[in-house]
Amino acid sequence: MNRPHFLLGGDELPFTPGETVLEAATRAGRYIPHLCWHEGFAPHGSCRVCTVKVGTRTMAACTTAASEGLEVTLHDEALDAQRRSLLQMLFVEGNHFCPSCEQSGRCKLQATAYAAGIEGPHFEEFYPDRPIDASHADLLLEFNRCILCGLCVRASEQYDGKAVFALGGHGIASHLVVNSASGRLVDSDIHPDDLAANICPVGVILKKRRGFDVPIGQRLYDRLPISSAPEDEAP
Ligand code: SF4
Ligand code: FES
Repeated sequence: MNRPHFLLGGDELPFTPGETVLEAATRAGRYIPHLCWHEGFAPHGSCRVCTVKVGTRTMAACTTAASEGLEVTLHDEALDAQRRSLLQMLFVEGNHFCPSCEQSGRCKLQATAYAAGIEGPHFEEFYPDRPIDASHADLLLEFNRCILCGLCVRASEQYDGKAVFALGGHGIASHLVVNSASGRLVDSDIHPDDLAANICPVGVILKKRRGFDVPIGQRLYDRLPISSAPEDEAP
């Protein structure tokens, strides 16, 4: 039986009913930029980096159900400009210093920005004051790099069964919270092998003493642009 299709950038893409546009594209090896989506989790729809045009409407590819005959545009001048602006805002809203970051070369924000053609800052930096939590013996929380994708929250709740993290506050005051009496990681029941400790797409939740286990220059996105890097090797 023929599988249903939709059009992505003019190419026919088969899908399984129930899949989203982003899921079907990823399974077919087609890259749609994304930060808050991760295979196996319900979409969050918050980063908007996956925005595409469906017909004439702009929609998040991670929350749009694939359906027969959809015509999805991934790149045009307006979409590419919007994607660049979203990424540039994420960079200035936190403190991201790629050359000195332990996650350089395996950070989805950095790799997605390179794929979008961003090579330097654009908006004025906010330089927020976000203290690091180094209380845990094996894990470091570098809040300065949090893009509020919610993946650690969902992983901890839905996979680890622990609810170690939550997102608190609103708007510019939104921030990642550790659900422990003291608010510090050492007083939570997180374990370094938990999915929540291993899913951060940027450099917030870090394993201590492992920052440079793979030399910079040899990491996933040093070797391959994110558009052709295997999704299952990504953080
Ligand atoms: Fe996302 Fe990482 Fe921030 Fe958690 S710590 S919300 S995984 S960026
Ligand atoms: Fe779709 Fe973030 S990946 S909104």
